[in-house]
Amino acid sequence: MTHFLDIHTTTPADLRQMIDTGRAMKDARKGRPKGAPDDDLPLAGHMVALIFEKPSTRTRVSFDVGVRQMGGQTMVLSGKEMQLGHGETIADTARVLSRYVDLIMIRTFEEQTLLEMAEHATVPVINGLTNRTHPCQIMADIMTYEEHRGPIAGKKVVWSGDGNNVCASFLHAAGQFGFDFTFTGPPTLDPEREWIDFARTKGVEVAIERDPNKAVDGADLVVTDTWVSMHDPESAKERRHNQLRPYQVNEDLMARARPDALFMHCLPAHRNDEATSAVMDGPHSVIFDEAENRLHAQKAVMRWCLGK
Ligand code: CP
Ligand code: NVA
Repeated sequence: MTHFLDIHTTTPADLRQMIDTGRAMKDARKGRPKGAPDDDLPLAGHMVALIFEKPSTRTRVSFDVGVRQMGGQTMVLSGKEMQLGHGETIADTARVLSRYVDLIMIRTFEEQTLLEMAEHATVPVINGLTNRTHPCQIMADIMTYEEHRGPIAGKKVVWSGDGNNVCASFLHAAGQFGFDFTFTGPPTLDPEREWIDFARTKGVEVAIERDPNKAVDGADLVVTDTWVSMHDPESAKERRHNQLRPYQVNEDLMARARPDALFMHCLPAHRNDEATSAVMDGPHSVIFDEAENRLHAQKAVMRWCLGK
């Protein structure tokens, strides 16, 4: 079964093929209304379940539109309204869903839920975000970087803020696509050691630099994300804000990166917390291209999963 669970568990060759396919598919439908079908309909006759245990705008809409453009059908399910994990085991849910649908995308809390779903499903499973990783986002981000600036291999990517699930998938991508990665943030919010080690074993440089001004020196790409993620307790909010304020991406910080550096944020953003509006709407920002490319990159991911 060809699941798309994470960037570090997918081969670099497959990842590269998905990025290139996504770009080609995007080009092929330029100028068409969003609801118009693609020329080939690789998902014709296919039913896709989109399961959400957490809120979502981009993941929900981009997967739904992507499946429809490829000729398939979707059902969007809320984890709360299903038996998932409370009325029955994840394994049984996986076995049952596999009898109705051809592909499952799930956004969940615990990584274990995703892994159990994948272990017991007899159709491909896609990771639409867990507490630990967010691979679909970073596929879109790699595609976005390369559209604007060419190959990402050998570049310097700087993450400023919380070493969270999105940061984790960026570290995986550093290893698989071959770019250097610098994390800047407070020690209590460092990315997981396992992910740092993963990237390092692939031969790329991973640096931890507590001073954000030093960190962004020579950066080709500056990335941040919300200071408090959906799985973080509300009680963490005040402390996080105090800890992370020095790591805000503002015009002063961006001015220390390379002049042609890009700025990314997976969104949703809290404007003027982790990044100022001046940066988000400024000349370095590609945040809405990232959002659009969720659609194109995930279409390529779904094709790969289904061998289409
Ligand atoms: N970036 C992202 O995954 O956004 P949503 O939470 O809106 O899906
Ligand atoms: N780190 C964020 C990403 C949202 C797309 C979260 O998990 O809430």
